[in-house]
Amino acid sequence: MMQLSDSDFQRMVRFMHDNYGINLTKKRQLINNRLALSLKNQGYSSFTEFVDQLISKKDSHQIDFVLSKLTTNYTYFMREKDHYDFFMNVILPDITKKNEAKKVLSIWSAGCSTGEEPYNISMCLKEYFGASAGAWDTRVLATDISPRVLSQAKDPAYEMPNDIPSSWKTRYFVKRNDGSGLYTVTPEIRKNVIFRTFNLMDPIRFKLNFDVIFCRNVMIYFDHPTKDALVNRFYNATKKGGYLMIGHSENLSKDCPYKMIRPATFQKK
Ligand SMILES: C[S@@+](CC[C@H](N)C(=O)[O-])C[C@H]1O[C@@H](n2cnc3c(N)ncnc32)[C@H](O)[C@@H]1O
Repeated sequence: MMQLSDSDFQRMVRFMHDNYGINLTKKRQLINNRLALSLKNQGYSSFTEFVDQLISKKDSHQIDFVLSKLTTNYTYFMREKDHYDFFMNVILPDITKKNEAKKVLSIWSAGCSTGEEPYNISMCLKEYFGASAGAWDTRVLATDISPRVLSQAKDPAYEMPNDIPSSWKTRYFVKRNDGSGLYTVTPEIRKNVIFRTFNLMDPIRFKLNFDVIFCRNVMIYFDHPTKDALVNRFYNATKKGGYLMIGHSENLSKDCPYKMIRPATFQKK
């Protein structure tokens, strides 16, 4: 089996950290085990050859391949449900009041994987606004670094989620007509989400600042300085009074600029 040398390991760790924020310093065995066979099947004769190409070409498919082997895109509907409850019961009443004049909300699902999170947010929005949904622009920006997961998100094919209210199942899911037995989401939910490829290491330059940023279970791969720098960029891209949601197993450093208002939920005061 191909073996990863010290120098190829170091080159890969540096490249993935500097460009994608991913901290692989403790993942040497994982890299070796997860990549060796696939690289051999792809025709590489050594890790050196692969790492040389990875660094020189920065090919998005190769990057996606490495990310898919070494990180997880795991996600599901109603993940950390109390975030959605708080979003509907507290955040939405607050931000709709603040945006009553323009009737535009700006919400970002950063690290959206295969789309369950931004579609789930859209379902919450539809439930909250009910008949007046049409009067508001509530489109959700959904970004991920991986073109592979984004193409799945744009053509949803899900098992029917267990934990979703049964009325939502009939309102927001329809069976795909490809014989797979899987479900897609209804056109009104689908068209409320705008998917874009975006590397969270890049400067944040979207048109609007955000009322709410969901960045849940993404920063788990980042070391402290990378995470702190990203949280500062999020802060600058958040409206005053706006919110940041992170995963419940994550935390932010004590001197982060947001104020923690409940576990895993922060506000720009
Ligand atoms: C575990 S999924 C989280 C999905 C969803 N937010 C949730 O909580 O269920 C993490 C996602 O973060 C994305 N990701 C990792 N590093 C990234 C980066 N530097 N820029 C953008 N997305 C990144 C991955 O591609 C993956 O789809």
